Amino acid sequence: MNIPVTEVPQKGTRPDDASLGFGQIFTDHMFVMNYEEGKGWFNPRIEPLQDMSLSPAAMVYHYGQAIFEGLKAYKSNDGKTLLFRARDNFKRMNRSAKGLCIPEIDIDFVMNALKQLLKVEDQWIPETLGTSLYIRPTIIATDPFLGVRSSFTFTFFIILSPVGAYYAEGFNPVKIWVSKDHVRAVRGGVGEYKTAGNYAASLIASEKAKKEGYAQVMWLDAIERKYIEEVGAMNIFFLMNDELVTPNLSGSILPGITRDSVISLAREWGMTVSERLISVEEVFNAHANGELKEVFGSGTAAVISPVGEIKYGDQKIQIGDAKPGPVAVKFYDALTDLQYGKANDTQGWVEVVE
Ligand code: PLP
Ligand code: COI
Repeated sequence: MNIPVTEVPQKGTRPDDASLGFGQIFTDHMFVMNYEEGKGWFNPRIEPLQDMSLSPAAMVYHYGQAIFEGLKAYKSNDGKTLLFRARDNFKRMNRSAKGLCIPEIDIDFVMNALKQLLKVEDQWIPETLGTSLYIRPTIIATDPFLGVRSSFTFTFFIILSPVGAYYAEGFNPVKIWVSKDHVRAVRGGVGEYKTAGNYAASLIASEKAKKEGYAQVMWLDAIERKYIEEVGAMNIFFLMNDELVTPNLSGSILPGITRDSVISLAREWGMTVSERLISVEEVFNAHANGELKEVFGSGTAAVISPVGEIKYGDQKIQIGDAKPGPVAVKFYDALTDLQYGKANDTQGWVEVVE
């Protein structure tokens, strides 16, 4: 299906790849569609990026009924636009939709809409390794109503942002801070969905971490406050001797697509991978015994991000020698080679936008 396009009168210019940070610059157009109960999703369109007009009573402003995704489009050396596991992002969006009482979307339809939007915005896709076009599909509740219930109307939109590295550190190791006083999510709650409130709940601890000079918060489970869950915008991996350990999907952790890709690659390479409970105490003990070889995070925005320091209360550990460890580098290279179309895609993860 061809989606109607209203083009901007004058296209903007993409900044130099070298100057790109994360999430500050937006492309000329967006995809939008609306939902009404009884009618379903309707009026899909590509139009100039513009402010949205909503009633100040719109439910999203009050009760946070909102979900989003984060994925990327990459330019290959031969000028093709590539998507990495995009369908998995829309599948996860539908899981989040169910969890937040939001109507699901048709994955084939939104994949097609996204591809059409990417063709309109081709000039906005950066070309240098380490840069990409970040894609942010979002659904918000729009009923002007102050009672607490699920909305009857929603807006789905996709906006695009040319990006470089998520962290100021780039691929250099980041420092993370374990939150003792605050928790992000609890089993049975909405922690495994990509919903706005999870990020709002994370801010107070992030501010504390920043004040102490740490890039992100590492969250512990909300019940025993013992087991590691994930980090602000990424899942987390620990290489303990030859075992690659990542927290199991307990219900309060975001099931990261990069996490799943790392696990698949590690198994393909014959590594021992465990998805299991891992306590902060185990990590600190492994460090003391010389068994903790590497720590790194995984995420769409963060790609693979080595961790060089962890602080927990008054205790601090230093991992590695301020350089990314060889295993983090191996995953970073394997993932980015696939994403930029340099490696043979044996898993069917890469889709060309044609
Ligand atoms: N955990 C959180 C809280 C996130 O926001 C993200 C980023 O999307 C991730 C983990 C990593 O998920 P993915 O690899 O799908 O980007
Ligand atoms: C992502 O990696 O896509 C994220 O959503 C992380 C963050 C910017 C919320």
